[in-house]
Amino acid sequence: MSNQDHNQAAQHMQEPEARLSRRGFLTTLQGFLAAVGVTALFAPVIAFFWPAKLEETPSDPVPVGDKDSIAPGDAQTVRFGRYPAIVINTPGKGLVAYSAVCTHFACLVAWDPEAQVLACPCHEGYFDPSDGSVISGPPPAPLESIPLKITDGTIFIGGEA
Ligand code: FES
Repeated sequence: MSNQDHNQAAQHMQEPEARLSRRGFLTTLQGFLAAVGVTALFAPVIAFFWPAKLEETPSDPVPVGDKDSIAPGDAQTVRFGRYPAIVINTPGKGLVAYSAVCTHFACLVAWDPEAQVLACPCHEGYFDPSDGSVISGPPPAPLESIPLKITDGTIFIGGEA
């Protein structure tokens, strides 16, 4: 067998491998095009249900509920833009609202009805419901206060409430 014959034989042996690689490429391309097609098909559906704009802090007042919906000594967590807020019916000051985002590492505070304080579960930070100030724990600042107003029997927070 000459050297040239040997090279031709080697090329013939490589050909099926090259064909397989072409097939693999075409399969990958087909999969990619299918994924693009599915995305193009469902993107408008996903966009329809996705909130168009989620403000960090709503510019308009947000309704919370009926003025009597939160019993004295109780609280309600509500959606307020990107982050939740907490509305408390304090025995001393009546209805007050704060951002529910802890000023330490941004965990969400919750109302502790037994102790009548706002408690952060992450590092045991406690806040006074009457003014949002820190009672104890690592939070460096009070909870952000949110304006609250009652209009036609409904509690509104934020905006120019
Ligand atoms: S995040 Fe609230 S106490 Fe640390």
